[in-house]
Amino acid sequence: MDSILVRGNGPLNGRVPIAGAKNACLTLMPATLLSEEPLTLTNAPRLSDISTMSQLLESLGAEVTSMQDGKVLAMSSHDLTSHKADYEIVRKMRASNLVLGPMLARLGEAIVSLPGGCAIGARPMDLHIEGMEALGATVELKEGYLFAKAPANGLRGGVYNMRFASVGATENFVMAATLAKGTSVLKNAAREPEIVDLVACLRKMGAEIEGEGTPEITIQGVDRLHGATHEVVTDRIELGTYMLAPVIAGGEVECLGGRMSLVKAFCEKLDAAGVDVSETQNGLLVKRRANRLKAVDVVTEPFPGFPTDLQAQMMAALTTAEGVSVLEEKIFENRYMHAPELMRMGAQIDVHGGTATVTGVTSLKGAPVMATDLRASVSLILAGMAAEGETIVKRVYHLDRGYERVEEKLGRIGAHIERVQE
Ligand code: UD1
Repeated sequence: MDSILVRGNGPLNGRVPIAGAKNACLTLMPATLLSEEPLTLTNAPRLSDISTMSQLLESLGAEVTSMQDGKVLAMSSHDLTSHKADYEIVRKMRASNLVLGPMLARLGEAIVSLPGGCAIGARPMDLHIEGMEALGATVELKEGYLFAKAPANGLRGGVYNMRFASVGATENFVMAATLAKGTSVLKNAAREPEIVDLVACLRKMGAEIEGEGTPEITIQGVDRLHGATHEVVTDRIELGTYMLAPVIAGGEVECLGGRMSLVKAFCEKLDAAGVDVSETQNGLLVKRRANRLKAVDVVTEPFPGFPTDLQAQMMAALTTAEGVSVLEEKIFENRYMHAPELMRMGAQIDVHGGTATVTGVTSLKGAPVMATDLRASVSLILAGMAAEGETIVKRVYHLDRGYERVEEKLGRIGAHIERVQE
C-alpha cells in the first residue's frame, strides 16, 4: 500500500496549477444520463473518484472515453441498458447517488444502492428521497437499495423546501426536474459553485433554470436535452489546500486558476490569521505576513460559509499558530479524525462533540500517521511540511480520490515529498 513521506524543509516557492473540481465533475458526469446526445467535459481532474464514476456510468450502458490524459471526458448515453447503480460501485463513493435524479428523469425508474464514501458521519439520503417524491416519484428502501419510480407519464414539476441545504440533494433535484413536466421550485437550495457549474452545463444542454447560486432555484421542465461541451470549474478545495502550503511552510506560492470568489470565507480567515492573498492575472498569490500565524476561530457552513472540506487542512495550519483557535464543524459529525493524528505530531487539540480547541505550539515533530479520509490525508501532509523531521502518511488511497499528483505539485514548489510503497 502506498504511503507519502514528507520532510519539513522550510519555505515553498513557485506556482501550482489547480485542477478542475472533483465535486463539480462528479455531478456533471451523471448529467450525461439526461440526454441521448454526447456530453463532453474539459478540464476534468485525474482522480480515482472520476474513474469510479466512469465505471458506474458504463455499468448503466453509457460510454465514457477519456482523452488528453484524462483531462477530457467524452460521454454518450445514447443506449442505456440498466437503471441499477450496484452496491459494488456505490460503496466506494457516496457521489454515486448522483445518478438517481438523472436516471429517474430519463428512464422513469432507478435502483440505487445506499452509499459508502468517507467515514465522516451518517450521511443519510432522506433529502434526496424527499426531493424525488416532490417530483411525483415513489421511493422504497429494500435490501440496502432505493427503488425509485416515476409516475407512468414521467416526473412532474413540484415544490420542495429542503430542511438543510444539501449539495447532493440539490443536484439530484435540479437534474431530475430538467425533464419533469411543468415548473419545479427548490427552496433552501445549496449555493455551492459546483451547483452553479452544473446549471451552466445543463443550460448548454437546453435546460431552463433560474436562480442557481441563490437559495431558490426554479426549473422549467423541457421535453429533451441535447449534447454540449463544458469546462469544469476550478477546484476550490484543491485551491484552498495548496494556498495553505506556504501558510504552513513559509514562502510565496501562486495558485494558478484560483479566484477569490471561490474561496472568499476561507480568505477572510487567512487574512485574520495573518496571511496575504492577492488576485493576480493567473490566479491567487499567497504569503504569510509574519513567521507565525495568529489563532482564528472557524465555523464550517454551507457555501458561502467556510467549507467543511477545508476544515482539516485549516486545523493543520492552526496547530502552530500563536494562541487558541476554536473550530466548529457544523456539516458533518465525526469529522475530526485527523485530530488524534495531528496530536501524534505534537499538536495540542481538545475535541468535544463538534468543537475542536487548538492551542498553538511552536513546532510539530514528524511521526508516522494514518490517513482516515480524503481531506484528513492532505491535512497530515501539510502538517508534515512544517514538522521537524520525517512524517509518513499511511493509507493514502483516500488522497488519490481527490488530489491529482499531489507529490508532483508540492515537489515542484520545493517540498520534500515522495510516494513510497510499504
Ligand atoms: C458534498 C461534497 C462533499 C462536501 C459536502 C458538504 C460532492 C461529491 N461532495 O457532499 O465533499 O463535504 O458536499 O459541503 O459534492 N444530509 C442529510 N440527508 C440527505 C443528504 C445529506 O441529512 O439526504 C446531511 C449529511 O449527513 C451531512 C450534510 O447533510 O451531514 C451535508 O451533506 P451534503 O451537502 O448532502 O453533502 P454531499 O452532497 O454528500
